[in-house]
Amino acid sequence: MRVEDTDFFKGFVRMADDGWNMGWHERNGGNLSYRIKKEEIESVTDELADGKLQEIGVYVPDLAGEYFMVTGSGKFFRNVRINPTDSLCIIQINETGDSYRIVWGLVNGGRPTSELPSHLMNHQVKKKLTDGRYRVVYHAHTTNVIALTFVLPLKDEVFTRQLWEMATECPVVFPDGIGVIKWMVPGGRDIAIATAKMMERYDAAIWAHHGMFATGEDFDLTFGLMHTVEKAAEILVKTLSIRPDKLQTITSDDLRRLAADFMVTLPERFLE
Ligand code: 13P
Ligand code: ZN
Repeated sequence: MRVEDTDFFKGFVRMADDGWNMGWHERNGGNLSYRIKKEEIESVTDELADGKLQEIGVYVPDLAGEYFMVTGSGKFFRNVRINPTDSLCIIQINETGDSYRIVWGLVNGGRPTSELPSHLMNHQVKKKLTDGRYRVVYHAHTTNVIALTFVLPLKDEVFTRQLWEMATECPVVFPDGIGVIKWMVPGGRDIAIATAKMMERYDAAIWAHHGMFATGEDFDLTFGLMHTVEKAAEILVKTLSIRPDKLQTITSDDLRRLAADFMVTLPERFLE
C-alpha cells in the first residue's frame, strides 16, 4: 500500500488543511505529529527507506521504535495538501530514544519540525498516561488565544476559568483545564520539558505570545479541542472589546451543576 492511500495520511492532510483554513498557520507557523499504529506502518513497509540517524535533543525512551508522521520544519501548512511528500515525513525513533531517522517524505530535503522535542515529549507523557490511546499532538498559532496572553495574568486558573465561562460546552470539552507557559524561546529542550509537564495535567497548553499545543486520541478530537479553546478565546476577546466587565456569566454553581449532569469532574481550584 502507498502511504498516500492510507486513512492516517488522509486524516493528517485534512487536519493540516483545516488548520490552514482557520487562519492559524501563517507562513510555516504551527506543526502536527501523529504516532502511527503498528498495523498502519506495517501496511506501508514497501515504501519506507532507511535515513541517517539524527539527534532529537531530548530523551524519549518510552517512544523507542515508534513511527510518527510529522510536518517538516519551515514547511507551510498551506502547501500540505498540494505537495504532501515535500511537506511531511515519517520518522522512526531509535532503540535508545535519543535519535530519529527519516523513513519517508521530505523528498526535496529538510528535517522534521523544529518543535520535534516538544511534540515527542508530549507524546511520551500522553502515551503513558492514556495507555497508548492518545496519538496526536498539534501546535497552532491561534490568534485570539495569543491576544489574550497580552492582557490576562499568565495563570492556568485564570485562563481555564475565563475560557470555561465563554461557552457552555468548554468545561465538558476540557474538564481538566488548560495550562499556560510564560514566554520562552521556542524550538528547544527547555520549552519541551515545560510543555510536557503541563501535559501531565492537561490536554492543552498555551505558549504566551506564541500559540497553543493540543493533544488527543485522533485528528477529530485534537482539532476539535484546538477549535473549541480558540473559539472561546475569540468570544472573550469580543466581550472584552465591548466592555471590560461582564454583566452576567456562568457562575461557579452553574459549572458544578453542568459537571454533575455531563458527568465530568471539574477541579475545585477552578471553581473558586
Ligand atoms: P517549524 O516550521 O520548524 O515547524 O516551526 C514553526 C513554529 O510554529 C515554531 O514554533
Ligand atoms: Zn510556533
